[in-house]
Amino acid sequence: MARNDLELILPTADRKDEFLVMAAEFHDVGETDWPHHARAGDPIAMEDFDAFLKRCENLRLRQDMPPGFVPSTEYWLVAGGRLVGTASLRHELNEFLTYEGGHIGYCIRPSQRGKGYMTAFMQRLLAEAARLDIDSVLMTCLAKNIPSQRIIEHFDGTLEDERPSRREPGSLLRRYWITNLPEASED
Ligand SMILES: CC(C)(COP(=O)(O)OP(=O)(O)OC[C@H]1O[C@@H](n2cnc3c(N)ncnc32)[C@H](O)[C@@H]1OP(=O)(O)O)[C@@H](O)C(=O)NCCC(=O)NCCS
Repeated sequence: MARNDLELILPTADRKDEFLVMAAEFHDVGETDWPHHARAGDPIAMEDFDAFLKRCENLRLRQDMPPGFVPSTEYWLVAGGRLVGTASLRHELNEFLTYEGGHIGYCIRPSQRGKGYMTAFMQRLLAEAARLDIDSVLMTCLAKNIPSQRIIEHFDGTLEDERPSRREPGSLLRRYWITNLPEASED
């Protein structure tokens, strides 16, 4: 599959309806922890889309930071012109992110999984991390999340440790560092 049809875009009102349809797709299969900012515990994009856009802008520009948040760039993942997922690139780590969340979080909508999308987008997200002068990217995933583990290992993530997940008690969390970051292309 060609990979030149992939785009990382910033959330935009132009695609609000498409985003909400995608969010419903996650929730309909019981994945209420996704997508970013439309989770069951943080449904801001569904409840107040303008506030969501403002939050994303603020997080990216480090202004009016909500308590406990670090600066981050929220991306929508577009393949062939269609929204297929979301990602969050945190510009720095706090205690929670160091323990569990890592620098990059991502999700692909259920109907579009297993097509290599996240592996391809990850290349671009890592290039964006390098652009932010992050030279070592912390990635985490539950030990049972085989697709995520394969993505991280594809980019030569070095396993630092396994530890109990705080977010999902009873599950083991794997923490990796990726240091060999790809260069950003001009597109
Ligand atoms: C994790 C996730 C983003 C992967 O997205 P994706 O686009 O389906 O991933 P890819 O198609 O690039 O596949 C990544 C790897 O996982 C493998 N894989 C995909 N689905 C799999 C499955 N059901 N079982 C085992 N391996 C699987 C692929 O073969 C590939 O490995 P390979 O390159 O060695 O062949 C997606 O499953 C998802 O959104 N999950 C819910 C959210 C989530 O878990 N986010 C990450 C939190 S750490």
